[in-house]
Amino acid sequence: MCSVTSRTQVAIVGAGPAGLMLGHLLHRHGVDSVIIENRSEPHVIERVRAGVLEQGTVDLMRETGTGDRLEREGLRHDGFYIAFNGSRHRIDMAALTGGRAITIYGQNEVIKDLIDARRATGRPLIFEAADVSVGDLQSAQPVVRFTADGVAHELTCDFIGGCDGFHGVCRPSIPSTAMRIFERVHPFGWLGILADAPPSSTELVYCLHERGFALFSMRSTSITRLYLQCTHDEDLSAWSDQRIWSELRARLTTHDGWQPHVGPILQRGVTGMRSFVAEPMRYGRMFLAGDSAHIVLPTGAKGLNLAMADVYRLAFAIAEFYRSGGEQLLECYSERALQRTWRAQRFSFWMTTMLHQGDGHNPFDYRRQIADLEYLFSSRAAMTSLAESYAGAPFDHE
Ligand code: FAD
Ligand code: DHB
Repeated sequence: MCSVTSRTQVAIVGAGPAGLMLGHLLHRHGVDSVIIENRSEPHVIERVRAGVLEQGTVDLMRETGTGDRLEREGLRHDGFYIAFNGSRHRIDMAALTGGRAITIYGQNEVIKDLIDARRATGRPLIFEAADVSVGDLQSAQPVVRFTADGVAHELTCDFIGGCDGFHGVCRPSIPSTAMRIFERVHPFGWLGILADAPPSSTELVYCLHERGFALFSMRSTSITRLYLQCTHDEDLSAWSDQRIWSELRARLTTHDGWQPHVGPILQRGVTGMRSFVAEPMRYGRMFLAGDSAHIVLPTGAKGLNLAMADVYRLAFAIAEFYRSGGEQLLECYSERALQRTWRAQRFSFWMTTMLHQGDGHNPFDYRRQIADLEYLFSSRAAMTSLAESYAGAPFDHE
């Protein structure tokens, strides 16, 4: 096989939200990069994942010229509901946080916009790279090796952005003695569907129910997204369309008659629940960002936003290195990114615990959850705390 040797400033492994946004931000700082992705472009675009963008992610996309379609098509939500005991209770996020909001815009759309932005820069974005590996991480010239179109590549660089998600190669390339893993695997999962049905509420509804958690969300004014708590290894073949809808209705219908609109199911899947943090988020010249370094429970929709906050910080640190030779921001990258990560872990874990039926769940726990929620909605301080965490803190690079 013939082989090619090349060089760039930053080699980015993974073209998810973290890798694509890192490439885009570096470009805006005048820093060159190559993005290497092992899956195909349609696969990366079509994966159904997150849909809730924090204000910080929306601001970042807008400020960096990738927010035009988001501005037109995104659905701004000033609040959301939590349903329990058959009633919906609203958290007025904007009023409680001085105007911060979330925006509904599918991760698929974010990816499309970021791929378009990358193409417009003319900088390399390689899909379907095989046998991707990273090496010489402690040297000043680390390397990424991969095969593309039958050609073996050896790409040397100054830095590697490890943006290849939880199952990627970057984190496992770090010696276990140089990294500490914090992890908890949970005994349940979410069965998620996309339905061709207009949303029956203009805002999300998180629901505590004795039959298990349920979540009403959306992707647009014509597509509803719904989740049901299930077992971590739930067998999807046991779920007919009719069973899915009847379970969703049983959990979500409130005393005022509200329930989701029913429509053809366009996509379905089961997601396991994992809380995971790898510390530090750096090994030599390789920096981890996004899901390669941390996984949060999905309740509260922090995963994608955390990935964006990481790369915002990382891009600044790398740009500062090229501008002044200073490594101070690179040196505190991991510590600062981990602070935000643990805050998101805390929040997602708390929301999950308040709304799901955990291991050994019994009527005591259910009553305790009701008391938690009743307290929440009786206290402006408690609602403000929830709203602040849900809307997310502004992104920071200091
Ligand atoms: P990823 O999006 O995982 O991107 C990593 C990229 O690296 C992928 O494109 C992958 O193909 C590529 N890659 C992997 N290995 C290699 C390799 N060896 N070489 C090159 N490239 C490689 N978050 C929410 O906020 N709300 C949700 O509802 C939600 N639902 C989710 C559902 C699922 C099934 C999953 C898996 C995640 C979900 N998340 C959700 C989390 C959110 O989607 C992630 O936090 C977000 O995608 C993180 O972005 P990332 O770029 O760090 O990682
Ligand atoms: C969605 C996912 C979440 O994890 C969440 O907390 C809210 C909404 C969604 O996919 O729409």
